[in-house]
Amino acid sequence: MRTYSVVVLVTLALFPTLDTRDATVGDTRADLPRFSGKSLECPTGYDTWPVVGASLGLSYSKHSDGGPGSFHRVYMNPSAYAAFKKTGEFPDGTTFVLSIHEARERGSILRGGFYEGAAEALEASVKDRSRFPTGWAYFDFGNGSRKSAAAFDDNQCHACHSAHGEKDSVFVQFYPNLRRTQ
Ligand code: HEC
Repeated sequence: MRTYSVVVLVTLALFPTLDTRDATVGDTRADLPRFSGKSLECPTGYDTWPVVGASLGLSYSKHSDGGPGSFHRVYMNPSAYAAFKKTGEFPDGTTFVLSIHEARERGSILRGGFYEGAAEALEASVKDRSRFPTGWAYFDFGNGSRKSAAAFDDNQCHACHSAHGEKDSVFVQFYPNLRRTQ
């Protein structure tokens, strides 16, 4: 056991910046963002990540059809989630996935309420201070079928996030698993 630990430590000391391209499932690096050129590959396996918050009908654009709005679910990659719980900061490599579903009303035995219907949108944000001047970049994968996406201009996404997101451009005020007061 002791020999094994020494080997691991020596290996880590010799290769401190291991390449994430070789990451495999079960490996803590597997949840880090992957880029091809300037595009982010659509995060895979995010459905197994911690959900930090969920909401119904949050609206910050002008259009509303008067219905309940859509369901939002926000996932965070597990390695960054663990780091945030420990330090209260978002490390480089932090990835959020915002999955949006329509609110569906009738079905099966239902007599009231709403459940998640068709997928409407899948968006992501990534923190990487060496790659992005503001530290964060934002991506849109359509309804989830797009394999990769280029980053939006800062004025399209980051401007609102940096002005109103309570912690480091992230809307932690809406996420019970990340905000301090429940
Ligand atoms: C006018 C303000 C505003 C703009 C512009 C905006 N967002 Fe957001 N965003 C929010 C709010 C509020 C939330 C909180 C959670 C939610 O909406 O479900 C959020 C949450 C998110 C999250 C979850 C992580 C986080 O930072 O809280 C992602 C990912 C995201 N937005 C992507 C985008 C993308 C991509 C764009 C640009 C196309 C964008 N946003 C533009 C207000 C904005």
